[in-house]
Amino acid sequence: MIRPIKSGKEAVVFCCRAHPSLDRDLVAAKVYRPLETRSFKRDGVYQQGRSRGARPDARMLRALGNKTQHGRTHKFSAWISHELSTLQTLHAAGADVPDPIERVGPVILMEYLGDIENPAPVLVGVQLNREEAARIYERILWNVDLFLAHHRVHADLSPYNMLFWNGAVTIIDFPQAVDPRYNDDALELLVRDLANTNAFFADKEIDVVDPRKHALDLWRRHVDPQR
Ligand SMILES: Nc1ncnc2c1ncn2[C@@H]1O[C@H](COP(=O)(O)OP(=O)(O)O)[C@@H](O)[C@H]1O
Ligand SMILES: [Mg+2]
Repeated sequence: MIRPIKSGKEAVVFCCRAHPSLDRDLVAAKVYRPLETRSFKRDGVYQQGRSRGARPDARMLRALGNKTQHGRTHKFSAWISHELSTLQTLHAAGADVPDPIERVGPVILMEYLGDIENPAPVLVGVQLNREEAARIYERILWNVDLFLAHHRVHADLSPYNMLFWNGAVTIIDFPQAVDPRYNDDALELLVRDLANTNAFFADKEIDVVDPRKHALDLWRRHVDPQR
């Protein structure tokens, strides 16, 4: 472990030296906060429909539905594996997300963005000229489209969950991602993702999409042509 990068409400992310077998110098370790310090109040909307993809057994489903320690432990674990499997799917599809390496208990090891002195900044603090802003914005929309093509809506997309390094954007932080085929709130979450993205680009003098119209267009192409 070299140093902590950031301590958020869900997790602490560390910059670490990589094992020689990994064929890279550095890795990021996202260490989820222990169960006792977390609240699952906002979980409901994100968890909806998730069990269809994961196919847990009946005992686990019952556990997820109640508030016992067993249920909470399963939820905690499901939340972390969901981030890992989403990163795996999207990275394999060619999206701009960190290359996931492995999960060990509450820790996800993934590609580190940055160098040994400086972790990549989050996009929100980056000054972009108009040309860069237009290119980055297009690339974010391209990623959102690709996410939909692979049945994912990020659901917490904002310039706080985008890293900027070597002129390119990387989208991070996927535990709350939802599957639009099974989640009734996914369209609204998609509209919100686009609106939060637009807010950052509003003063950059570039053309931005209408969040609702664009979300519906993506929805018709990838989820339901009748919508
Ligand atoms: N792969 C990575 N490379 C470099 N920094 C990262 C990486 N992943 C996360 N970070 C840093 O850690 C912070 C928290 O990570 P994030 O996945 O957004 O968790 P949360 O917001 O839930 O705490 C990010 O804002 C970013 O500064
Ligand atoms: Mg985050």
